[in-house]
Amino acid sequence: MMGGVLGDVIELLVCPICRGALTLAGGAARCAGGHGFDVARQGYVSLLVGSRAPGTADSAEMVAARHDFLAAGHYDPLAARLAEAVRAALPDAGGVVLDAGAGTGHYLSAVLTGGAGETSRGIAMDVSKHAARRAARARGRIGAVVADVWRPLPVRDAAVDVVVNVFAPRNGPEFARVLRPEGRLVVVTPAPDHLEPLVGRLGLLSVDEDKERRVGESLRGGFTEVERRHEEFVLELGPDQVAAVVGMGPSAWHHDPGALRTEIEALGDPVRVRASFHLSIFQPALRSSL
Ligand SMILES: C[S@@+](CC[C@H](N)C(=O)[O-])C[C@H]1O[C@@H](n2cnc3c(N)ncnc32)[C@H](O)[C@@H]1O
Ligand SMILES: [Zn+2]
Repeated sequence: MMGGVLGDVIELLVCPICRGALTLAGGAARCAGGHGFDVARQGYVSLLVGSRAPGTADSAEMVAARHDFLAAGHYDPLAARLAEAVRAALPDAGGVVLDAGAGTGHYLSAVLTGGAGETSRGIAMDVSKHAARRAARARGRIGAVVADVWRPLPVRDAAVDVVVNVFAPRNGPEFARVLRPEGRLVVVTPAPDHLEPLVGRLGLLSVDEDKERRVGESLRGGFTEVERRHEEFVLELGPDQVAAVVGMGPSAWHHDPGALRTEIEALGDPVRVRASFHLSIFQPALRSSL
């Protein structure tokens, strides 16, 4: 089934201005307070207000590179393990998954197109409208929303069974608020040796060793880690695929394209690259009853 099913998720969303319920009418999402948000021709709605998109939004080129790379199946082993972990945390039917920093919707689509995911709905949230455009077209019952993860999320309290967060910014207090008490947060982060030898040979931005500790700290208070796995596999990449993997990451902003291509071609064809991730499952800490 093609995506773009905003109607399926609108009752889970709230107005980013007054936090009132939203309904879809006349090509817009509207609240009773008179605030309206146009649904884009491509099927997503932007609920971004009060600020411009942060500079961390993926550009059209980054989203296109990510789409091509993911569609070629290079990260399929990760998608399969993530989908398995998320489905295990979903109710038998009628689950809700929020992918925060969803990018093209690739992983959310993997979650929702098999097993318990088939009867579940997903919200693909990203601050990049280029990403939201792609996510609105991804397979599965996915509503695509442009919103900033660092602001209050335009999502109702306790409406979500699983929050998914893959290589994207986190907002612990907001993830805790939107999750049901028995819900789960599934986080994928790159390990320090992810994309070696590309990181060293091409001078890409590397994952700092402290990152894992900071992930834990940013969620501390709101969440308890219940499971943590390390996943790794080897990619065999030709020069175009190496260029895509560089183009979809944060280093895309820091490189001179001509010089980069020369360096990529010097690596050999294919080059063996390590994909190395941590997949962590968190549960919301018990909320104190006031
Ligand atoms: C490295 S990409 C990962 C995308 C997707 N999860 C994947 O793995 O294919 C990071 C994503 O986070 C989005 N992003 C960056 N800052 C954000 C923010 N403040 N709120 C929401 N999304 C954000 C970017 O636009 C980008 O799509
Ligand atoms: Zn409103």
